[in-house]
Amino acid sequence: MSQVVILVGAQWGDEGKGKWVDCLSEQSDLVCRFQGGDNAGHTIYLNGKKLVLHQLPSAVFHPHTKLLVGANVVVNPLKLLDEIRGISSYADVGPERLWLSQRAHVISPWHIHCDEQREARAKKPIGTTKRGIGPSYEEKMARSGLTLSQYVDDGQRALWFERRSAESSDFLLHTQNHKEAWALFVSAAAELRPFVQPAENQLRKEIASGKRVLLEGAQGTLLDICHGTYPYVTSSSTIAGGALASLGLGPKSVSQVLGVAKAYTTRVGEGPFPSELKDDVGKRIAEKGQERGATTGRPRRCGWFDAVAMRYAVAVNGFDAIYVNKMDILTGFDQIQIVTAYQHPSLGVLDEFPADAEILAACKPVLKSFSGWQKELPKSGSLADCPREAKIYVEAMSELAGVRILAIGTGPERDDFVQVT
Ligand code: GDP
Ligand code: IMO
Ligand code: MG
Repeated sequence: MSQVVILVGAQWGDEGKGKWVDCLSEQSDLVCRFQGGDNAGHTIYLNGKKLVLHQLPSAVFHPHTKLLVGANVVVNPLKLLDEIRGISSYADVGPERLWLSQRAHVISPWHIHCDEQREARAKKPIGTTKRGIGPSYEEKMARSGLTLSQYVDDGQRALWFERRSAESSDFLLHTQNHKEAWALFVSAAAELRPFVQPAENQLRKEIASGKRVLLEGAQGTLLDICHGTYPYVTSSSTIAGGALASLGLGPKSVSQVLGVAKAYTTRVGEGPFPSELKDDVGKRIAEKGQERGATTGRPRRCGWFDAVAMRYAVAVNGFDAIYVNKMDILTGFDQIQIVTAYQHPSLGVLDEFPADAEILAACKPVLKSFSGWQKELPKSGSLADCPREAKIYVEAMSELAGVRILAIGTGPERDDFVQVT
């Protein structure tokens, strides 16, 4: 029996995936990031010290785990090397431990330029992280991209430059006008070379030999390129199925699928958000929850827990169970609400998540109210130790979302959670 667990975000990202990957890594031999790039910001607290990971799997602070960056990740070489150096006093990351897929594509200065320009010119910007994510995936899909395997091979990289320059005069102009940025980009190749390996083959061998593997998602279900709130999404497949496609694994290799959510909802960037609170309650959640993007520092929009969106995430990913973080942030509120359905001006009451972002944007939430609790939640223990109102709220989230909740987060540290079942 294989031991391959997938863990993904169930909302619009920033659900606290980093914390749970860190926690579960204790019992994992290999942890794999399977999509996205340095748009991700996964926060981990290590003995009170806050550390944010962007491209490295969130298991990096457990020395026994191997780390893999899969084929459908887009890698910013300079940023990755900086990240490895930045955490070097907490973790050793060498090529024997970190395996980068030869098939992964790079993010180049051109992609970052295109992302910035497009956002600046758009009538309706997406609110991207401006890390070059979308343009890098576009180039990959157009079959003009540069894989890590080609990037670290001086001959192949030079040929790619020639081909790409012949294809696009704008690209050529950019390389000529930003010589320093391109020289830095090229200079990172030699340092990255030892890390670039037949990672998927190695992964399959690890699984065959009975190793415990955790597949770590970035972003969240509602930001999925296909099943999210398109076009206000990221450019990769963020859902559980995306893990298999990226890592070259068959569906039968998976033993468990887990989701991570917050006890409320947040979103960074533009796009529809039916449970958004634009009032003082939303501000209070944002302040108490310190809701600022871990990558860009932008304020996160806040709203109530949305059971319609969560039921959808459960269906799309096939969650066996979820973790719900940040319950501690809701302590002290008189009333807490959950979205149970959407009211659309012409379509009436919807209890399924609509595919069209315009329809979703026109929806008002149908809310169910719950009494809040005033007493602080215990940092650890079980749900039975929590105030009665908190127990009722957790049971309601589980019932309305149609999924088992394993634990609730009661603080940012590794051990700050309360067991539910
Ligand atoms: P990720 O991208 O899904 O890994 O999440 P982020 O790191 O971007 O954002 C989650 C934030 O919530 C981080 O600052 C975490 O330290 C913090 N966090 C996670 N779980 C809890 C929790 O249960 N309570 C509190 N107060 N903070 C939490
Ligand atoms: P983690 O892994 C929250 C959002 C951006 C924007 C949209 C597209 O930390 O949960 P992109 O730069 O990917 O083209 O931007 O996706 N976004 C995230 N929101 N958490 C993230 O990552 C995100 N990564 C991208 O804000 O709305
Ligand atoms: Mg984040």
